[in-house]
Amino acid sequence: MSPEARPKVLVLNGPNLGLLGTREPEVYGSATYADLETACRECAKALGIDVDVRQTDDEATYLDWLHTSDAAAVVLNPGAWTHTSVAVRDAAAQLRAPFVEVHLSNPLAREEFRHTSYTAGLATGVIAGFGIDSYRLALQALAGRLT
Ligand code: DQA
Repeated sequence: MSPEARPKVLVLNGPNLGLLGTREPEVYGSATYADLETACRECAKALGIDVDVRQTDDEATYLDWLHTSDAAAVVLNPGAWTHTSVAVRDAAAQLRAPFVEVHLSNPLAREEFRHTSYTAGLATGVIAGFGIDSYRLALQALAGRLT
């Protein structure tokens, strides 16, 4: 497929995910955020799609990325905003593209406040608990729909 014809998937990571590798490794593993970016890029290449991987700790920036997305699909890990932010939910709701919610950990196996997701009910699917593989699985599922 020519580069112009490859569908683009946006991977949007929320707060504290830039600290992967040093942040609570017993929960999130030892892979770094750079490892996550590399894994997404390599996986996308193998699947014949383009990927744009981003992370921010600033909710306004995250909302802006959702508002202005022209991607064919989105992989969304809103981090803690998953459990707190109606604004992120509303921004996800206006996406025209399908999105998959991902988590490195399995929030349902953790504290009760993580059992609510404002965004999961809008997602095409949710993949949680497989570390960086959650992202690979999401890209694979989306690529199957896009290509
Ligand atoms: C997380 C799970 C959230 O509960 C947490 O606040 C995060 C990371 C995950 O990927 O496992 O920051 O989204």
